[in-house]
Amino acid sequence: MTKTILVGGQFGDEGKGKIISHLALADKYEIIARGGVGPNAGHEVWYNGKRYPLRMLSCGFVHEKARILIGAGVAVNPEVFLKEIEMTGTQKRAGVDKRATVITKEHLERDASKTPDKIGSTKTGCGPAIMDRAGRVATVAQDSKELKPFLCDVAEEVNRAKSVLVEGSQGFMLSVLYGGYPYVTSKDTSASTIAADVGLGPKSIDEVIMVIKAYTTRVGGGSLKDEVSKEVAEPKGMQEYGTVTGRPRRTSLSLHYDDLKFAAMVNSATQIAMTKLDVRFPGNAGVKKFSDLTKEAQAFVNDAEKKIGVPITLIGTGKDALDIIDRRK
Ligand code: IMP
Ligand code: MG
Repeated sequence: MTKTILVGGQFGDEGKGKIISHLALADKYEIIARGGVGPNAGHEVWYNGKRYPLRMLSCGFVHEKARILIGAGVAVNPEVFLKEIEMTGTQKRAGVDKRATVITKEHLERDASKTPDKIGSTKTGCGPAIMDRAGRVATVAQDSKELKPFLCDVAEEVNRAKSVLVEGSQGFMLSVLYGGYPYVTSKDTSASTIAADVGLGPKSIDEVIMVIKAYTTRVGGGSLKDEVSKEVAEPKGMQEYGTVTGRPRRTSLSLHYDDLKFAAMVNSATQIAMTKLDVRFPGNAGVKKFSDLTKEAQAFVNDAEKKIGVPITLIGTGKDALDIIDRRK
């Protein structure tokens, strides 16, 4: 029974939702909790042929016995939260830490009018809510009428549980501390902060799974090594669009190994999950065994593993939660 933190190793949109849903179903975690910034995240999960775009709830909801929690460190938009509870039918098993920061209409307005345009913010009010928390003028969840039925103590629950999976949001390269400041989100996004977001201390963590995509994308401002145009990305199936804002994502064909090594170090990654290998190497869709991958795809994974220095234990080969190679056993 383990306590696992899942983090993004790039600029978000690594496919964390897909990996979370697989882990939730395969390992049957007791609790699946969201850490990270807030509803600026867009996590997508396909389950039983249906698409669930989620911004507040964890994609781990697909494991129907799990308690689905949101930690104290996450900024919560009650309207988005309640809508997702409805969408996923999780009324009886969802909870929000009583200490979480509440995002208000005023935060949304301030994000739209004051956050510098060059950042390319999702304008979901996360930054201003976190500023107000630091300024000690924010509303916390326990003072919100709408959140009342869902209030709980996530820190107590995750520390008592035997198995906990924590879903981080954004990616390490968007961390306000370690990313390319100021082109970053409003909080640190490394594994230690994600753990603290739900109330887990460093010694209680067994595994840190860092999710990376087989190529690199970024949405919003800031540098992107080896960026290619839409005309190059589109025919390769690598032109993506944001889940939250619908904005076209920027694409780079390479993996940025120096940055990934640094990310693995700061996050103390024990495993790597690599997604969209089937997009990078056509002919591998739906493959479930490593030896069934094309030679080229196998060589790419082996090379990445060597360069980053962390075992690649999970490999995504399609959008469904079941399209995965799980090399952990
Ligand atoms: P904000 O956190 O919404 O203010 O956005 C700051 C920067 O982080 C912008 O470049 C956003 O595009 C990016 N960002 C924030 N959240 C996500 C995410 O979940 N996925 C990808 N990019 C994100
Ligand atoms: Mg996303």
